[in-house]
Amino acid sequence: MPVILAIESSCDDTSASVCVDGKVLSNVIANQSIHEAYGGVVPELASRVHQQNIVPAVQQALARAKVSKNAVDAVAFTRGPGLLGSLLVGVSFAKAFALAKNIPLIEVNHMQAHVLAHFIGDNKPSFPFLCLTVSGGHTQIVLVKDYFDMEVVGQTLDDAAGEAMDKTSKILGLPYPGGPLIDKNARLGNPEAYKFPEPQIPGFDFSFSGLKTSILYFIRDNVAQTPDFIAENINDICASVENRIVTILLNKLKRAAAHYGIKDIALAGGVSANTGLRLGTKAMCDQNGWNCFIPEMQYCTDNAGMIAIAGYHKYLKGEFASQSVVPLARMPM
Ligand code: KG4
Ligand code: ZN
Repeated sequence: MPVILAIESSCDDTSASVCVDGKVLSNVIANQSIHEAYGGVVPELASRVHQQNIVPAVQQALARAKVSKNAVDAVAFTRGPGLLGSLLVGVSFAKAFALAKNIPLIEVNHMQAHVLAHFIGDNKPSFPFLCLTVSGGHTQIVLVKDYFDMEVVGQTLDDAAGEAMDKTSKILGLPYPGGPLIDKNARLGNPEAYKFPEPQIPGFDFSFSGLKTSILYFIRDNVAQTPDFIAENINDICASVENRIVTILLNKLKRAAAHYGIKDIALAGGVSANTGLRLGTKAMCDQNGWNCFIPEMQYCTDNAGMIAIAGYHKYLKGEFASQSVVPLARMPM
């Protein structure tokens, strides 16, 4: 019954989790509100707040799981990709804990972990499956052949889907991170009110920078004519933007599923918390007779539960890291 302590600190959430025999018993997430004032994550501030949060987060994760620190068999941590200073805090903590307790270290790829979040609950996809991983930094269609055998078959050429959400919300004057606010307003608006262009990108790749520019010009031109345009139409604007982002994502996912003949379709990453994307994916799967897998909300955005489950499967394979391991800002799948 291996007991894994897991640490996630790749961006602006400090998270710790305890997993016993493949069951995630706690998932503590300390959000950093300090970035709201800046309209985006400030890397240097993020690493300082990780330093303040990491010990209390680990203490809480152990307490909630009712596990003593002496019972931990291995420490899993996010090695990358992410902000180097933020990663450094988690990696250093994991190394120190492992050294003090004389237990092994397990390095985890954050993007693989988003996909492996599907193995936390009871409803697990079967290999091979397709996973659309959509976050603030990544937009990928991943062909998942096994726990650690994943192929990126499509990805964004510029902005990530979450970035498109966050940049749109910034244009609309909403605070960071804007994705959840776009979601909230979109529920009250008409998704067909405004038409934004769908980029024509070959294969299963994505592009969101053109959409961002068209939203910017659309808002600028309308505000020039009607100064209160945003306030009067915020729900319709959010619903229409969300609708376009979701259709861009799902049109590619649908084509990839048909191309690879895959019937198990999964969503992962922070943007999979989006109501429109969740409903749209479910509807697409129902129409095509595909099985749809969407993680619980707490395992969509950055969390250590997904690092713990990835760590557990590496523990079973006996794949451990050395004390000389360093974080990586970029880390391929
Ligand atoms: O995976 P994540 O927590 O962090 C990264 O690794 O980037 O994803 C964060 C992204 C942000 O862009 C945020 O705006 C977006 O996920 N997001 C949402 C929602 N919740 C989070 N976007 C749309 N609707 C949501 N409900
Ligand atoms: Zn993430």
